[in-house]
Amino acid sequence: MAPKTGKKSAVGTKKKAATQPAEVSKAAKKGKTAAPPEVEEEEEEQVQTMEALHLDIASVLLSDHRHTVALLHHFQQAMGDTDTDDVLIETLVDAICLDIRLHSQAELDVLYPYFENMLGKKGKEIAQNAREAHVEIENNLVQALEMRKEGKKSEELEELISTVMQEFEAHLQQEEEQYMPLLLEKASEEDLVELVEAFFQSKMNAPLMPPAEQGTEE
Ligand SMILES: [Fe+2]
Ligand SMILES: [Fe+2]
Repeated sequence: MAPKTGKKSAVGTKKKAATQPAEVSKAAKKGKTAAPPEVEEEEEEQVQTMEALHLDIASVLLSDHRHTVALLHHFQQAMGDTDTDDVLIETLVDAICLDIRLHSQAELDVLYPYFENMLGKKGKEIAQNAREAHVEIENNLVQALEMRKEGKKSEELEELISTVMQEFEAHLQQEEEQYMPLLLEKASEEDLVELVEAFFQSKMNAPLMPPAEQGTEE
């Protein structure tokens, strides 16, 4: 997805800390200790590459969603195949859980706080709905991880992953059809790129296991 035209382009320029929106900077630094100069230099180069490639947060979110949907389809196919061995089922459950875990943490750390900051009451509503959807999905994934420890295909596991797929698809549809257009409308071109850096940084620092069963109350 190309950045909006007619707005300031940061391509090929050094990022200035002062121009970073507070919410992006804060999220990017979450869980991050002071990095040595060579690491900071490497990160700066990565940002410039993202800028040069016009890699914005909406493209990254879409790509993440499609990747997860592909894994969920592989799981359903594997479950339907009588030759599938238990190791493949276990591998796919682990891959799906990790994929959603990192994406989820990055959205919770970076995307939803950004909505709250940018869109006031509407942003808070979006963030709350989205957080609740993530809790539902991750609670089911915690159970799926428990089930797959039994190391066999089971109807229960299949049903649970089907539920995750339905919940995930409903949530991503909302994100792609409602939240992303708002993001593209309201965020500056610079923010759209800087959110990518913060998003990847959050993925790198994300706990690999979903939190234990969570409530959906705020
Ligand atoms: Fe989400
Ligand atoms: Fe998402």
